[in-house]
Amino acid sequence: MKNPIKEIALQIEASKKQGTYKRTQVLAGPMGPTVTLRNNRQVVNLCSNDYLGLADHPEIIERSKQALDKFGNGTASVRFICGTFEIHLQLEEALSKFTKKQKATTYVSCWNANEALIPTLLGPGDVVISDQLNHASIIDACRLCGSKSIKLIYKHNDMQDLKQRLEEAKSAGKRLIVTDGVFSMEGDLANLPEITSLARDYGAIVAVDDSHAHGVLGKTGKGTTEHFGVEVDIITGTLGKALGGAAGGFVAADEPIIELLTQRSRPQLFSNALPPATAAGAIAALEILDREPQRLSKLHENVRYLRKSLSEIGYKVIESPTAIVPIIIGDTAKAIRLAKRMLDFDILITGFGYPVVPEGAARLRAQVSASHSLDCLDQAIKAFEALLEECLP
Ligand SMILES: Cc1ncc(COP(=O)(O)O)c(C=O)c1O
Repeated sequence: MKNPIKEIALQIEASKKQGTYKRTQVLAGPMGPTVTLRNNRQVVNLCSNDYLGLADHPEIIERSKQALDKFGNGTASVRFICGTFEIHLQLEEALSKFTKKQKATTYVSCWNANEALIPTLLGPGDVVISDQLNHASIIDACRLCGSKSIKLIYKHNDMQDLKQRLEEAKSAGKRLIVTDGVFSMEGDLANLPEITSLARDYGAIVAVDDSHAHGVLGKTGKGTTEHFGVEVDIITGTLGKALGGAAGGFVAADEPIIELLTQRSRPQLFSNALPPATAAGAIAALEILDREPQRLSKLHENVRYLRKSLSEIGYKVIESPTAIVPIIIGDTAKAIRLAKRMLDFDILITGFGYPVVPEGAARLRAQVSASHSLDCLDQAIKAFEALLEECLP
């Protein structure tokens, strides 16, 4: 009889031999434009989502500490039993103001927020129509609808294909179009003007996950809706990237949708609330974003600089205002190997391969922060220049 644990161990061994095994980089200090590795080595950090450089901000740390003092370590309960603190309501009010939506509700992650939203909103006979390259949490959230609702996928950002899916779903109940605002592996933007226009024509609801756009896009960092000047019905987002870098997620929408989620969504009914220190840190992050618009302009300046410099030295990068710059390598083992080579130049960057991205589309993903100095970016560009030949797919 086969030993299942041995089989799994063999599978892991095989991935090590193939060079596709992911090794975790352990950091000995806080997140920032540079980070300290365990051997005390300082490297430029080109792979965090700390887009505004707030993860180590003294005010956020102080406000988190104050919340720890006031509320203790955590809720020791789910929201509806006795796990809702004042600080949760304050955060939700700040998020509803930030997203310009009637109400917001929070979860311990945006993964949870997406998994709460889609299966709770959709019932028998309803349809979810999802972009092919949506984040894994949206894909899994669609799967959680089970057989009760219909799932349709449209080709990435292909508006003709979306229209066809909407035609197919014409006689369904509720129709929900769901998309990332910024696609996390591509760094491109959802075509929200077209999506919202099609949604109007077909009476569909639009939900946008703006995890990589909040604090990054739009005149005041409010995300893709502000960037395009459009309105959508539902916005989800994370508090673990630009908005403080800790953890947490949220859904913002009209009051009845948020009421439904607080009454029925399983990640809120069966799982603890956001730790109060994390909630307080996120409120502080939203205030800093409002108060210090220069962070946003510095981020945009850095994004333009990196994209322009990479294309000048021979890399193919798409035109995009987002802080995600993928460099397509192709083979997973090669992408992982090249990430290791970048570390030889003191640049921390991650190689992404299957199953995070489709087979054959492995890549290095560079992420820009407002906290990067030009020196940091130049060091990264020099490393890319030295590795150009090796990086060609
Ligand atoms: C588009 C998108 N949605 C959701 C998530 C999950 O966010 P969280 O870390 O808050 O679960 C991510 C994180 O990578 C993401 O990129």
